[in-house]
Amino acid sequence: MSELNKDSSATELVATNEDRFVDPGLPAHKLRMSDKDPKAAKRAELQVVFFFLVSIVGTIASLVVFFTIRPDGTTESVRNSNYALGISIAFALLGIGIAAVHWAKALMSDHEVIDERHPLESSAEDREAAVAELAAGVKDSNIERRTLLKGSVVTALALFPLTIAVPLVANVGSDWDVSKFRKTLWKKGVRLTTDPNGRPVKAADVTVGSVVHIIPEATEEERQSHHWITEKAKAVVLLVRLDPKDLKESEERKSWSYDGIVAYSKICTHVGCPVALYEQQTHHLLCPCHQSTFDVADGAKVVFGPAKRPLPQLPIAVDDEGYLVAQDDFNEPIGPSYWERLK
Ligand code: FES
Repeated sequence: MSELNKDSSATELVATNEDRFVDPGLPAHKLRMSDKDPKAAKRAELQVVFFFLVSIVGTIASLVVFFTIRPDGTTESVRNSNYALGISIAFALLGIGIAAVHWAKALMSDHEVIDERHPLESSAEDREAAVAELAAGVKDSNIERRTLLKGSVVTALALFPLTIAVPLVANVGSDWDVSKFRKTLWKKGVRLTTDPNGRPVKAADVTVGSVVHIIPEATEEERQSHHWITEKAKAVVLLVRLDPKDLKESEERKSWSYDGIVAYSKICTHVGCPVALYEQQTHHLLCPCHQSTFDVADGAKVVFGPAKRPLPQLPIAVDDEGYLVAQDDFNEPIGPSYWERLK
């Protein structure tokens, strides 16, 4: 391309960009109803107050709900309590949110201001100017004069933290019963049955390399009880059969397995997802949530990932009829760590 042609292309490009990026400037300022009519301003103020009142009622309702609708351990009661708390806290937050937006749109100054680009680091003068602008903004919002509005916003914002603080404080030293996490349905002699149909498992039926999802044996009445789902969820087990010579068992644990069959809690010790992916060649169990990997051949120790503890082991044996049974509960509390776990 000749020099002449290059120059003319560059000129065209500049011209095109200038056309495309014409500064539109600011639109003409429009006065709002609340700027022109004091009655409209008063109406808007009352609307803002109304939404702060909604927040106040929501906060009070959440406290009432917290103390009156207490979960009694059943799934339904936990669900009801969570619904009621969720709805009341939603109103508490929504009231503050809507009130703030409406206040800004209807009552605060809406004069357009141009903020020129400048270096990221502000000068001391700019910072002082910003503080002065902020102070002017507060003055401009007329908060000093609108005592009703000031009272409602302060009350709503001051009360809202109670939705979090009261439940936290009320739970300290209350009926927080960590023994629920230490005990499961497993005890001496309880048969290992398949999940979900509850069929007892014979040791002879478990082939090397197979994995069976296990729950404790339970009567029909126990299965229908309110607590079954929760208790079953805590007691779920993965049963794996390895070649006995692949097992690296400590002296203490030698009697916890049966002919290469080992049983471990299925609940990940990271944050409690079900560990369910078994690699037969490596004997690794993988948690799908954050990829913690446990070595079944070596006490289900963590070989990779964020989990910090091995999976708890269920000591097993075989009864007179050849069915697999538990010798006791898990060797340690199942699931993620918690503060009181070592007590
Ligand atoms: S819950 Fe298993 S790795 Fe996070």
